[in-house]
Amino acid sequence: MPQWVDACAVDDVEEEDLIRFDHSGRTFAIYRSPDDEFYATDGLCTHEHVHLADGLVMDHIIECPKHNGRFDYRTGEAKGAPACVNLKTYPVKVEDGRVLIAVE
Ligand code: FES
Repeated sequence: MPQWVDACAVDDVEEEDLIRFDHSGRTFAIYRSPDDEFYATDGLCTHEHVHLADGLVMDHIIECPKHNGRFDYRTGEAKGAPACVNLKTYPVKVEDGRVLIAVE
């Protein structure tokens, strides 16, 4: 069974933006897409472990702040060099204005 964790309020994340969320010694990134859906991935770039929360969101892409590697945050798929290892993604649900993510 996944463990659902309360990550933030819906309003904590601007549309087409992301925030960092730390839990149990791990770090995640919570995204809000232009079509108002929420997504969650590991918070660190798979290239050199930089916090993606300092990066830039464009549509459904997060661009890493360090070397501009790109990922589709909906699937975690690496979309641009030097990032070539996919990001891990996590299920998300919204309940009562809160964003919950399923961490194993
Ligand atoms: S650290 Fe993210 S692309 Fe290099």
